[in-house]
Amino acid sequence: MDRRTMLAATGAAAAMSATLTAGSAQAATRAGFPAGFRWGAATAGHQVEGGNVGSDIWLLEHIQPTLFQQSSGDACNSFELWATDLDLVKALNLDTYRFSLEWARIEPAQGEFSQAALDHYARIIDGCHARGITPMVTFSHFSLPRWFAALGGWTSPEAADLFARYCDKAARRLAAGMGYAVTLNEPNMIAVIAAALPPQAIALVEQMNAAAGRACGSTNFRNGMIPQLNDISLTQTNLLAAHKAGRAAIKAVRGDLPVGVSLTVSDDQAVGENSLRDQKRALYYGAWLDAIKGDDFVGAQNYARAEYTATGVLPPPKGVPISEMGVEVYAPSLAGSVRYVHEATGLPVMITEHGVGTPDDAIRAKFIPESLAELQKVVAAGVPVLGYVHWSLLDNFEWIFGYSKHFGLCEVDRATFKRTPKPSAAVLAGIAKANRV
Ligand code: BGC
Repeated sequence: MDRRTMLAATGAAAAMSATLTAGSAQAATRAGFPAGFRWGAATAGHQVEGGNVGSDIWLLEHIQPTLFQQSSGDACNSFELWATDLDLVKALNLDTYRFSLEWARIEPAQGEFSQAALDHYARIIDGCHARGITPMVTFSHFSLPRWFAALGGWTSPEAADLFARYCDKAARRLAAGMGYAVTLNEPNMIAVIAAALPPQAIALVEQMNAAAGRACGSTNFRNGMIPQLNDISLTQTNLLAAHKAGRAAIKAVRGDLPVGVSLTVSDDQAVGENSLRDQKRALYYGAWLDAIKGDDFVGAQNYARAEYTATGVLPPPKGVPISEMGVEVYAPSLAGSVRYVHEATGLPVMITEHGVGTPDDAIRAKFIPESLAELQKVVAAGVPVLGYVHWSLLDNFEWIFGYSKHFGLCEVDRATFKRTPKPSAAVLAGIAKANRV
């Protein structure tokens, strides 16, 4: 069976199952989410741990020129305060915590692995279990060891093998306690970023990498987050290989551990004749949707919708709320993106991130139930969704934008690191407890 026939067959099976389940859809909507549905919140190492000095991003934060507005500094001090974070997760009735390992801590120099760093992450995993929380662990969430970036980062011919070796070492110490493993965070983001970068930023990425290279004796420095335009194709090829090699390494240690990758997926809508929508989908997700066919789940991360006409993306409609990231706050987008990734892969979907950047928590408190009400309909129609993990547990370091964005269910005092749940946290906690909107 060739790929086209297989895709058609998968589509037909999905349509049949949708028809069979449509009758019971209303009843299921009333029933809420299925038993065993996961409710969680997410963070990522560099964004919350603090003092991640061995990473490529730390270096970018401390050189000139740079795209980074400020240093991540102590972040939320979660390297110390991880137990407080887990207590928060539990207090919010969530049963899943997604966090990431910092490769730069586990392998601070090429081939040199830190037992102490592995033990640190093992304590977090044990801390999850002690609280009845399932750990969902991301092996690489954008940040890379500085030495790896100095080798050329994801453009290096050794990239996939080095990533797989790290996955093997980390899995041997940590996989036994994991509930879900995510190899890479949003590796398809490079294509999206490449399309969105304004010309000044394109030049600045090259200058920033060159300055970082000078600081660490490399002529080939490539950061793990913002690609150089002429590297896109090679980076994507190597990331695809890295995912497959990483997945194989993790599976070799623990075959029954669910492993996937998380993809950034907007709710892409076609407007009018000759919409660019499908062309853009092919560019942003095509290779990944193909490559992950053997995975246990597809991780979906949604923050927006995009309305494609024949010439480009429409601006947000007039008068709608706009997030701190400059996108429309549009609750149905989560359901739309989930439906799409399932139809395109046939895989069960784990929502590994979803949220909104806003200083106005009332927007988030409304956005969460509205988004989940739409998701509940998709689930009722038969789309297998394993769980919902909100981004983020904490207000944290939003990469190039520093601390100027607010995605957290909890506010963090930047001087004392005190965490204070916002009203939206109680809204999510209530939905999680009821397992329905
Ligand atoms: C990333 C997070 C980021 C969030 C909000 C996702 O693309 O995985 O690291 O903070 O979006 O921008």
